[in-house]
Amino acid sequence: MHRRIMAPGALAAASLMLAIPASAASHSPGAPGIGDPYYPAYGNGGYDVSHYDLRLKYQPATDELEGTATLLAKTTQDLSRFNLDFLLDVSEVRINGAKASFATSGEHELEITPKKPLAKDTPLTVVVRYRGVPSTKEAYGFNAWLRTPDGGVAAGEPEGAWWWFPSNDHPSDKATYDVSVQVPDGTQFVSNGTLQSTSSRAGWTRYSWRSNKPQATYLATFAAGKFDVTTGTSESGIPVINAYSKDLGDVAGAARASIERSGEITDWLSEYFGPYPYSTVGGYVPNTTTGYALETQTRPYYSPSNFANGSNTSVVVHELAHQWWGDLVSVKGWKDIWINEGFARYAQWLWSEHEGEGTAQEIADYVYASRAADDAFWKVRPGDPGPENQFHIAVYDRGALALQALRNEIGDDAFFTILKGWPAKYAYGNASVGDFVRYAEGVSGKPLAGLFDTWLFQASKPGAPAARSASI
Ligand code: ARG
Ligand code: ZN
Repeated sequence: MHRRIMAPGALAAASLMLAIPASAASHSPGAPGIGDPYYPAYGNGGYDVSHYDLRLKYQPATDELEGTATLLAKTTQDLSRFNLDFLLDVSEVRINGAKASFATSGEHELEITPKKPLAKDTPLTVVVRYRGVPSTKEAYGFNAWLRTPDGGVAAGEPEGAWWWFPSNDHPSDKATYDVSVQVPDGTQFVSNGTLQSTSSRAGWTRYSWRSNKPQATYLATFAAGKFDVTTGTSESGIPVINAYSKDLGDVAGAARASIERSGEITDWLSEYFGPYPYSTVGGYVPNTTTGYALETQTRPYYSPSNFANGSNTSVVVHELAHQWWGDLVSVKGWKDIWINEGFARYAQWLWSEHEGEGTAQEIADYVYASRAADDAFWKVRPGDPGPENQFHIAVYDRGALALQALRNEIGDDAFFTILKGWPAKYAYGNASVGDFVRYAEGVSGKPLAGLFDTWLFQASKPGAPAARSASI
């Protein structure tokens, strides 16, 4: 090392710098996004959450939500500060017991600065106290909170968490949950997993739910309202908990006639996809008016409109198939949405066959024939549809056509081996479309890159699906 003659002042400055621990100088802020090209600001860098403990109070009359979120996490780099994704008003943040400073930035960022920088691999207990009126909070000009006449519901994809708890909001950081919410007596609160306890005091009832297997943030659900709750057990022994708004009007019968079959459908799906991975199953229907359903873990959300024309077991099959395809094995990035929607759609085709309403091949032939070559349907590439087309019908229907093409190419034995083996291989984790292609090639022993390129990645109508192979 070269020595230089320095002015006394410069020397003093140099030794001051040496007094700063070398590690502190290398600490940097965690990234404000986890690195998903579809949604650059979603999730955050620098830490990994293992558990969310949410202890809240909700008043339906005013839509006021308040309480405390305690996150157990671990740093994955040296950190000077880090972000959570959140929209409500924060009054205090503590990190490992010590008050931390915080500020908001961007559309939904809560920037948290600890008193002292955090070294890589430090266990964190992050306590966030907050309150707010979720229905008044927007990001990117929209609000995914569903306020109902008698309550409030969080069920959105890819974003839903921002309106009710601070999180690392991306499916690549899964965690377990305890969600305990006080609502006025006479109102129910429904969430994921198992109802551990209920207790009443001074006009408020607390419902404490536990989801004890890794769960993506968008699959955590909040449902306060006046519900009729039914419980049962599937034939294979899975506890079933369903909740129906008391105000479903004339869809009440059709909703129940469909969702009450959740246990039977879960047992049926497990014959294809392997053992059901969670401790309870069910569904809930608030009195909302969204057009979609959502595979919130263990307890999908359904919209009354799903049952407008009568019973709809197909939508129940779709959301429960997601328990394996999307929930147990989650996308690595949102571009991998075919891993969720293509397979949940294909499960509906299998159910149709089971119900005697048309085989998967017949439905595939119909979908293929009914979409003309110039239909925008064929412009969407299910294997990487872009954020604007994440939930385009092509991701679902063209995505399921890809699976019928795969089935015809490799035969039923290999195909159904894959449908059962994949959830086991990536259980409680994440995987990509590329991982699936490699897995299918491995199981079938056939090169499949061309087939998947044709069905998932070309912006044009492929030639007719291959005829069913002789092995079937
Ligand atoms: N995963 C849902 C389903 O197919 C779709 C949710 C669409 N999200 C939305 N905000 N429209 O069941
Ligand atoms: Zn779906």
